[in-house]
Amino acid sequence: MKFFIDTANLDEIKEAYDLGVLDGVTTNPSLMAKEGITGDDNVRAHYKAICDIVDDKVSAEVISTDFDGMVKEGKELAKIDDKIVVKVPMIKDGVKAIKYFSGEGIRTNCTLVFSAGQAILAAKAGATYLSPFIGRLDDISFDGLDLIEQIVHIYQNYGYDTQVLAASLRHTMHLIKCAEIGADVITCPLKVITGLLNHPLTDSGLAKFLADHAKAAGK
Ligand code: E4P
Repeated sequence: MKFFIDTANLDEIKEAYDLGVLDGVTTNPSLMAKEGITGDDNVRAHYKAICDIVDDKVSAEVISTDFDGMVKEGKELAKIDDKIVVKVPMIKDGVKAIKYFSGEGIRTNCTLVFSAGQAILAAKAGATYLSPFIGRLDDISFDGLDLIEQIVHIYQNYGYDTQVLAASLRHTMHLIKCAEIGADVITCPLKVITGLLNHPLTDSGLAKFLADHAKAAGK
């Protein structure tokens, strides 16, 4: 399972990359705004800065909601760096744009996916990645993980190439369950990735090993 980090914060991206387990980055307009990045030039420069940190697969989201606008914007985003994946919302013109980008060899991430029907549409349009939002479904009392399971099953039935990129993860159990289900990729905040490190028996075990070593060495 690939790990993407869901942030536009350069320090967090560097920290996850330095850990050696990072496969890509997802951003969205809210995450860019959170970092105070506004204006086309600044947004593009920020995407470039992200691309300079990681090896590949940086999702950059279009703001337009009409086909022509999405195509124009997506092409401009794709020109920033070969690592860019154009993120397109799951709306009618978005599906058309995904189909278009697929024909142009531009990788896409279909975002704001909340149903199996939307997942089928995106796969048929040729999306590279599909982002169903687990946490936001959980927030409204639907089981987000059930949707991941359903989509993985459907994609396996037909051998769709689209990769299931489980998004909107809130905690480590979301991540572990996605691995059990067989999601291709997860994207999450840094704290979810580093949260995987934690176990009290690791901490107490290490403390004892170090104490025993010090004792034996007469320290
Ligand atoms: C996905 O690419 C989105 O950026 C993200 O996972 C949304 O997460 P949120 O529901 O925590 O905002």
